[in-house]
Amino acid sequence: MAASRSLTLVVSLLLVAAMASTAVAQSSSCASYTFSSNQQYGSCAALPRLGATLHYNYTAATNTVAVAFRAPQTGKGWVAWGINPTGSGMVGTQAVVAFHGSKGSLVAYPTVLDSYAPSMATAAAKDLALPITDVSAEENAKAKEVVVYATVALPAGKGSKFNHVWQQGGSVSGDVPAAHPTSGDNVLSVGTIDFSK
Ligand SMILES: *[C@@H]1O[C@H](CO)[C@@H](O)[C@H](O)[C@H]1NC(C)=O
Repeated sequence: MAASRSLTLVVSLLLVAAMASTAVAQSSSCASYTFSSNQQYGSCAALPRLGATLHYNYTAATNTVAVAFRAPQTGKGWVAWGINPTGSGMVGTQAVVAFHGSKGSLVAYPTVLDSYAPSMATAAAKDLALPITDVSAEENAKAKEVVVYATVALPAGKGSKFNHVWQQGGSVSGDVPAAHPTSGDNVLSVGTIDFSK
């Protein structure tokens, strides 16, 4: 019983991996991606893990960055991206998360990853270290991706280079994203990004 269950798990993980790589192969990472409303971003980074991509528009004069985060996702999972203004990993990250809610439609909102088991609840503006506005999400069914849009107010005087993290998980329970895998690419999806580049 236990053995067949773990075999099932291995098989499903392999399927997920196969689906993810297919999605990556089908989607154009940065160069020729066309957004649904033809939004234009001046810069783009193909992120090194999880097949994710970050498109961004940085405005130095106002310390703001408008982003479109794209990540492979099918069905019942979730995707998230955020900036960590105080550290280099998950804890402290001011994030945006998107998933299909219990009503069926895609929901997206800002959330604070304040521990390794964050509530994933919607963060009120006053609880965000970095104000995040204009959050929305859409599904690109053809590319099997979810796209999350947001505008982040960066801290003044801290330059344009920040630590960021991104993530995807396979399930959502009661409108709460469930924990992501804690091995492999899911714990390596961190980096630094210079929004001026
Ligand atoms: C990004 O900046 C360019 C140039 O200012 C502008 O044309 C474009 O609309 C901006 N895109 C978004 C999504 O804000």
